[in-house]
Amino acid sequence: MSVSYDEIKDALRKASDPYTGIEFANCLDGVSVEKERVVIQLEFGYPAEGKREETIASVRAAVAAVCGGMEVEVELGMNVLPSVPGKVPRVEGVKNVIAVASGKGGVGKSTVAVNLALALSKEGASVGLLDGDIYGPSMGMMLGVPEAARPRVIDENSMEPITVHGMQCMSLAFVMSGNMPAVWRGPMASGAFQQLIEQTAWQAVDYLVVDLPPGTGDIQLTLAQKAPVSGAIIVTTPQDIALLDAVKGIEMFRTVEIPVIGLVENMSVHICTNCGHREHLFGEGGGAEVTRTYETELLAELPLSGDIRALSDSGTPPVVSDPDGEVAQIFRETARRIAADLHKRVIEHKVVIPIVQIHDPS
Ligand SMILES: Nc1ncnc2c1ncn2[C@@H]1O[C@H](COP(=O)(O)OP(=O)(O)O)[C@@H](O)[C@H]1O
Ligand SMILES: [Mg+2]
Repeated sequence: MSVSYDEIKDALRKASDPYTGIEFANCLDGVSVEKERVVIQLEFGYPAEGKREETIASVRAAVAAVCGGMEVEVELGMNVLPSVPGKVPRVEGVKNVIAVASGKGGVGKSTVAVNLALALSKEGASVGLLDGDIYGPSMGMMLGVPEAARPRVIDENSMEPITVHGMQCMSLAFVMSGNMPAVWRGPMASGAFQQLIEQTAWQAVDYLVVDLPPGTGDIQLTLAQKAPVSGAIIVTTPQDIALLDAVKGIEMFRTVEIPVIGLVENMSVHICTNCGHREHLFGEGGGAEVTRTYETELLAELPLSGDIRALSDSGTPPVVSDPDGEVAQIFRETARRIAADLHKRVIEHKVVIPIVQIHDPS
């Protein structure tokens, strides 16, 4: 029994990647056949380590008929493409920038940014995390970085990010000594942000997650424009007022043509630790309504949970300290959806080089 490349490719048109809708045939990277064994290599444009077994099973099912009784081995690879650069110059060493924003403080923006970055990393991507909240940098605390930790200085214009949980991290808190200025004026704030993002020697980062300061005003906008942002995530709580702020956030990004990938509704439902009863303390369905009106996605609804608070504030975020728990699974799924969405945007906007026809006037 034998099988050809074309037969495999044809068979793989019948199955597609559930996150992007892309046919497996279009991810085919190689086929090798030796005696009774066939090795099928696929390459994906975003990380989905958590779905490896399922993907392999779908590929096997799709090729089963053409491969007959042969032994089928499936190898999955990944290559994240950089998003098409706009007017803003690219950040050296970074393929995609994801901004995490919120209308107001205290909604869990930093918690979401940290756990999403960790989830992207667990899914198999190379990840950077920039604490862009220069008013209240909290990343070091959330990731358990010792207070005395300082980035290694490479030369007068660059420093190495600090590696924590396999991620490259940078925060103003890592480079400041003594107290932060309590009030940053606009230009100072954006100057400090730009220096942090540009003078960090990011090493082959697929996704740089940026925790922006809370609010949706000029400062946030300026900061977001200092980096070529591939997409923005807006974190909100279900209260009306927080949702109104979320709407402002969506509008703010749209005015500068930064795609809003979606909303993460935090503290969405309270689950009683005694009886398991689920209650929507802050109202229900608000995030879903905003996303319908504004044609964006509701990426996740995270529970209000004592564990999230305790784990995040003690330097061991749930994605790493409780990887099989419900919260970690929500973040992993959200990370795959965000990465898949970015990949789709990149391939859909692929720059087509125009063919110039030269007519010979003679
Ligand atoms: N889903 C949640 N359940 C319980 N506590 C949470 C949740 N999300 C965040 N918190 C806690 O709320 C506080 C504020 O979160 P933080 O991420 O610092 O907000 P922000 O960055 O928006 O100001 C922190 O103490 C955090 O641990
Ligand atoms: Mg914060």
